[in-house]
Amino acid sequence: MASIQKPVGTKDLLPDEAKFWQKFRETAFEIFGRYGYVPIETPVFEQTDLFVRGIGQATDVVSKEMFTAISGENLKTLLGGGHIKSKSRLSLRPEGTAGVVRAVAENGLITQGGAPVKLSYAGPMFRAERPQDGRQRQFNQVGIECLGAGEPTIDAEGIIMLMRFFEAIGIPADAMRLLVNSMGCEKCRPAYREKVRAFILEHADALCEECQRRADTNPLRAFDCKKEGCHAVMAEAPRIVDNLCEECHEHYDAVKGLLDATGVSYQEDYTLVRGLDYYTRTVFEVQVIEGMGAQNAIGGGGRYDKLMAEIGGNPAPGFGFALGYERCKIALEANGFKLEPAMAYDFYIACVDDSVRPLAFNVLQTLRDAGFRGDLDHQHRSLKSQFKQAGKLGASRVVVLGPDEVAQGMAKVRDMASHEEVNVPLDQVAAAFAE
Ligand code: HAM
Repeated sequence: MASIQKPVGTKDLLPDEAKFWQKFRETAFEIFGRYGYVPIETPVFEQTDLFVRGIGQATDVVSKEMFTAISGENLKTLLGGGHIKSKSRLSLRPEGTAGVVRAVAENGLITQGGAPVKLSYAGPMFRAERPQDGRQRQFNQVGIECLGAGEPTIDAEGIIMLMRFFEAIGIPADAMRLLVNSMGCEKCRPAYREKVRAFILEHADALCEECQRRADTNPLRAFDCKKEGCHAVMAEAPRIVDNLCEECHEHYDAVKGLLDATGVSYQEDYTLVRGLDYYTRTVFEVQVIEGMGAQNAIGGGGRYDKLMAEIGGNPAPGFGFALGYERCKIALEANGFKLEPAMAYDFYIACVDDSVRPLAFNVLQTLRDAGFRGDLDHQHRSLKSQFKQAGKLGASRVVVLGPDEVAQGMAKVRDMASHEEVNVPLDQVAAAFAE
């Protein structure tokens, strides 16, 4: 029978990597915790409508890349030509923001006059994109969302926190580029959209068909087109920065001022619109400068002051970002990073013969109960291969139990680095480890 393989665009995180992913998340949560962010977990699937309303029907993420989940029962209804209720239309989350904002609204986490709600999350996201290096159909994100505060200090501290995290995991500051822009708000963006629409119609000949269509659906998306020709044309389009209202200008200047004051370097990129429609005011993206081709964005985010109301909650401003674990790992590897073994054993017990095995099992349990990581040979191997096994497992000590030692109530403990051996009373092995 042909063997079954993992779905295209997915990856198994084998133990060494699963352990690193765990450490990666812990580092993120530790750093984000210093800024007041606490973890939240939301479902990996939500009502499709949440993403349609939140992220926007005209985005690639919603119109082309969503995995829609159909229960067996609904599939039967559909195949029979029936209609499924909108509540039962479900999609795997393509990103984390919409679900977190829904959870904040549904659980009433924002309190009148209270501090902003600061939440962090980590987990798999799903987008049916064409897989390539750094682009998967299931990938892992770590992100944060802050709801209930519209002040520029929230944006600035968020951006600084993200840059600090990238540096903490080992991506050198000079290997990254931080791009910032403002998307304006409902006051200044409509007029700007019209200008961009007119520009697209004027330059239609030089733009791809999709960008031409975008003139009517969502003109600003044309800035996001990956085609070289379109990119060059759109670089000449009216700039949002010249079309911001006074409040948006002030907000943008304040964010940049805070970044300047903290010594965080950035570049302004007036073509940066991001692939999701919920953004207002600040948007930003962190790219790796060399070696990652088109998939060079390791993280990004921005402000979304209308999203809460868009999904039916009480209006509240929001800000957040997410970073891609897999892309960060590629960036780290380009800087010499190697995974460490998932398990570094503190000890391994080697039995000289089978007569000592019952006692060895007890010693093993005592050492584990004392907090040490280790094992013994479960497969009745020779003493020589038990030592080999201990080496392979990276055990720092081997506890040798032989009938002679045991008869005297002793064990031999060998330090695998120095090859020193000491005899230790059987009931004091854990204490000897702790020394
Ligand atoms: P995003 O830019 O779509 O933003 O995704 C954030 C990061 O996830 C990207 O910078 C990239 O590193 C990673 N990523 C995205 N798609 C893939 C993929 N197919 N394969 C591998 N990695 C990928 C968001 O998702 C927003 N929710 C960020 C946000 C939070 N904005 C406000 N709050």
